[in-house]
Formats: sequence, structure tokens, C-alpha cells
Amino acid sequence: MKKQQRVLTGITTSGEPHLGNLVGAILPAIRASNQPDTASFLFLADYHSLIKNTDSDLTHTSSLEIAACWLACGLDPDKVTFYRQSDIPHIFELAWVLSCLTSKGLLNRAHAYKAAISDNEQQGTKDLDKGITMGLFNYPVLMAADILMFNADFVPVGQDQKQHIEMARDIALKFNHHYGELLTPPEAQINEVTGILPGLDGRKMSKSYNNTIPVFANEKVLRKSIMKIQTNSLEPGEPKDHENCNIFNIYKAIATESEVLDLKKQYEEGMGWGDAKNVLFENLNEFVSPFKQEYEKIMKDKNFVESVLVEGANKAKEYSSPLMKQIRESVGIKGF
Ligand code: TRP
Repeated sequence: MKKQQRVLTGITTSGEPHLGNLVGAILPAIRASNQPDTASFLFLADYHSLIKNTDSDLTHTSSLEIAACWLACGLDPDKVTFYRQSDIPHIFELAWVLSCLTSKGLLNRAHAYKAAISDNEQQGTKDLDKGITMGLFNYPVLMAADILMFNADFVPVGQDQKQHIEMARDIALKFNHHYGELLTPPEAQINEVTGILPGLDGRKMSKSYNNTIPVFANEKVLRKSIMKIQTNSLEPGEPKDHENCNIFNIYKAIATESEVLDLKKQYEEGMGWGDAKNVLFENLNEFVSPFKQEYEKIMKDKNFVESVLVEGANKAKEYSSPLMKQIRESVGIKGF
């Protein structure tokens, strides 16, 4: 029999569910979870949220919303292991072990840390580490622990997270070198859509950039956010290039092939940006509407979400508990 592939991915719970979460992570992960040779580990990276903000209500509300979003999109908790990171203490114990193996120089090179340093540089701040927490600095180690705790083979992520998976690989190999082959070096699975789905300003759609399209907001908010998508200043009547157009690239992620071809043709014929945004709004509104109905139902039943996650945590611990025991022993932490 072919070995089951273990696929793992998580979403940081630091904002409301947005289109990037949906088309970049949730829907492809659910599709993959239906394949017979795949064991999926899908989780809410709620402790990761503390890196980005100190708003406890935001973290708490977002965790519920992201969980409800997974379920509304059709995730079957019986087919996967669906859990909250914070419910699995082994992850944090492993994070410490891994941090003792991770050279500081490796983390100095992490994109998120480098970006924070470069912001300080640009602002002329003397202390380049100003405002940078150890949470941000250690972020790749916690992420490595998320992945290695479940010996994931593949980690579907956006292009921006590729470096973190490579770091998790390096850290796993280092662990294995010192303590024996216990951890699986993971591989990134870069989803093309995630790699290119732009936000309102053309950068990757991300809570960190504040450029997201919230999928479960009411129609008015959804429309308003689409109207904010940045375009160039070509007038109606002038032919438009679809390739570098944010509206077009978002449309591509949700529309059918023939709808996409049709929009392309209309661009060539000089469609105005206002009309293009309307087409996107109508299509998106229809695309999210079945998910939204489910979402609203699930959001009213917090106990259901809680019970799904508690059960998921128990399932997750069936994997993490024995592996953590082996890890503890292999590093010399054991009874006399
Ligand atoms: N850092 C990821 C993001 O912001 C979320 C995340 C945390 C994750 N731990 C993970 C993704 C482990 C994949 C695997 O998108």
C-alpha cells in the first residue's frame, strides 16, 4: 500500500476570514483532504496571533471566525485532524527544544524580521531592533514546531512562507543529526493561486498589509472593499491590459475559465474600471453566498465549534504525545 502523505497547514487567527484565506488555503486544503492517500492536519495558529497584536478580543474572535470559516467551506472534521494550536502543549515544548538547535544567524535572515529591521532603517531609527519582539524573531521556530510535531511531509503555503518551511527542514535535519532520525524534513507545496492573489493594493492579500477582502462581511461592505481596489488611470473606452490588473487577478481566482476569457475580451474593448469592479462584485458575492449562509449558522453555535475543536485536539494529541515522549527521551529528558 502507498504510504499516506501527511499534509499540514495553519492560519494565523489575527483577523476576519478573507478571500486569500479562502481561495489560497481553505478550499484547496479541503479538496486535498478528500484524497484517499492524504492525512490532513489543519489548525488555527492562535498563539501566532500574539506576534501580530496584543488585542485579546481580536485573537479570540478571529479564532472562532476562522474555525467557522473552515467548517462553513465544507471541512469534514471526521476526515481530518482539525485543531487549535494552543490546545496542543507539545508544540510549545518542542519549540523550546528546536530553539536550542536553531542558530541565531538563521533567524537573522528570516524575511519578517528583516522587513521589520528595514522599516526601522528607513525611518532613521537608531536602534534597528526597536519594537521587534522575541515572538517575531522566534516566529519561524514556533512554525517549525507546528510542522515537525506532526511529522508533516508537505506544507501548502503561499510563496511568502516558503522560507519558513526551508528553515523547518534545516532545523529537522539538525535535530536528526544530533538526536537520531525522529523528525520528517517537510517540503513546501506552493499553491499558484496563493502565490499571486493580490489584495486591494496589489501586494499579496494579507491581514498584515490591511488590504484584504473580508468574505463574510455584508454586501455593502463587500462592495465597498471591491471599489477600493487600486487600478491605473485609464479611462473607459481605452483598451486595458488584464495581466497586471488587480481586479482581473482576483476575478481569475473565483471565476470559471469562460468567464475569465469574457472579461479579458471586455478589457480589450475598453471596459471601464467601475464596470469591471461590478462584475467582480457580482461574481464574488455569488461565489461566497453558500459559504456565507453556512458561516452565519455556525457562528451562532459556538458550542458546536468548541466541541469540534476539543475532539480535534484529542486526535492531534494521539500523534503529538508519543512523538514528544520520544523527543524528550532522545534529548536526555527522562526519569531515572
Ligand atoms: N505563518 C503562517 C501564515 O502567517 C501560518 C502558520 C503558522 C503556518 N504555523 C504554520 C502555516 C505551520 C503552515 C504550517 O500564513
